[in-house]
Amino acid sequence: MTLRSCHSVVLAAGLGTRMKSDLPKVMHPVGGLPIVGHVLKVLSQTGSSRLSVVTGPDMPELEKLVGKLAPEARCFVQTDRLGTAHAALAASAALEDAADDVLVLLGDAPLVTSETISNVRQSLSDGADLVVVGFEAENPFGYGRMLMKDGRLLAIREEKEASEEEQKITFCNSGIMGFGGRHALELMRAIGNDNAKGEFYLTDAVEVANAKGLKVVAVAGTEAETQGINTRSQLAACEADFQSRKRAEVLESGVTLLAPETVFFSHDTIIDPDVIVEQNVVFGPGVTVRSGAQIRAFSHLEGAEVGNNAVVGPYARLRPGTVLGKDVRVGNFVEAKNARFGDGAKANHLSYVGDASIGAATNIGAGTITCNYDGFLKHRTEIGAGSFVGSNSTLVAPVTLGDGAFVAAGSVITKDVGADAMAFGRTRQQSKDGMAKVLREKLKKAKDQKS
Ligand code: UD1
Ligand code: CA
Repeated sequence: MTLRSCHSVVLAAGLGTRMKSDLPKVMHPVGGLPIVGHVLKVLSQTGSSRLSVVTGPDMPELEKLVGKLAPEARCFVQTDRLGTAHAALAASAALEDAADDVLVLLGDAPLVTSETISNVRQSLSDGADLVVVGFEAENPFGYGRMLMKDGRLLAIREEKEASEEEQKITFCNSGIMGFGGRHALELMRAIGNDNAKGEFYLTDAVEVANAKGLKVVAVAGTEAETQGINTRSQLAACEADFQSRKRAEVLESGVTLLAPETVFFSHDTIIDPDVIVEQNVVFGPGVTVRSGAQIRAFSHLEGAEVGNNAVVGPYARLRPGTVLGKDVRVGNFVEAKNARFGDGAKANHLSYVGDASIGAATNIGAGTITCNYDGFLKHRTEIGAGSFVGSNSTLVAPVTLGDGAFVAAGSVITKDVGADAMAFGRTRQQSKDGMAKVLREKLKKAKDQKS
């Protein structure tokens, strides 16, 4: 059966006081992507055709972020924070023309899977009027408890209203709910605020729907995917779960991780099969690694592309804009930024290569530095193919070295070097025969006279 179209509302107006942060809670990153970004991403993957995000007043940076991550989303401001039902209703202008289904998600729970979202949508398409995702909580404290009877969801009881008996229930509300579009607004509007917190609880939609004789269904998710973030330690726990999930995915796809628990990924890391990743490697956002490549121990990569069979590290740092071709070698203590390495190019030791392009099969000797910054502007270094830059060379950009150029070790290169030219940018060496012996004797005599 095909899924009906759906409109998703992400609730993100909360201040996140317990994070003790100036940044809105849902903007803190997990796997390098803001919490709310994960929710938007999974919604777009599951084909939610329309999207609304409810933000709080004075959260322009959150609105900007949503505009960037999901340009199709409409943002609504919930001025007073009067509860989750009140928050969902802030988007009622968008929901009014929604003849399709409505999903409500919490913006502070980033690990929800597309599988669970699809289950909710399937259940609605199969005829449920209201669907709630529940999970077995290890410690249910603080969650709304799902009151089930004979497989039916009767009500959701918030912690503060739950009786001692109800508090023992471990099947909890994840906060993800699906409404048959025809009923969504009507159910939300019927919710009152006669409870301990004086808030409009979206969870009360369950009792309202049951009273109307509608079909209410619980769908099971896992605690790992539904966990919400309220504190920094929950943020850390969520990050850890995100990393385990990503490691499992990467291993499953055919990548070798020598010590999986020491490798850290971003939400968008792309690693082809048959890549080997050694111990203690960090992948910041925007990294792609092609098949056959090796990322050796203690390397840090961000915004970089690593070509087939390239070897990076140990102890290499690839910063944004680095593109390594096939068979490239970037070795220990080499930092590259905004730099393109042609196939087979090498920078094996102790270099900084920034704002540069290095031709195929060119060798960058140990200790070579591109001086790309003059304190005001950045400049480029262009090096052709098959060139050789001797150790400890300083390339003062802007500067161009032609194909097959050869730079003598220890040079300071300030002018362009033509193709197949050899450049010496250092003082000429002088050797004086016998001079060392003369000097030694003179110094020894001076020392003897002193003592
Ligand atoms: C909520 C659920 C609870 C569930 C838990 C799962 C209600 C009443 N309770 O509790 O059953 O087990 O999530 O994590 O729904 N928000 C607004 N405006 C508001 C209030 C909240 O936008 O006025 C947003 C928050 O930004 C947050 C989300 O709604 O993203 C959930 O709010 P929160 O206060 O964290 O609810 P919980 O107490 O965790
Ligand atoms: Ca919460």
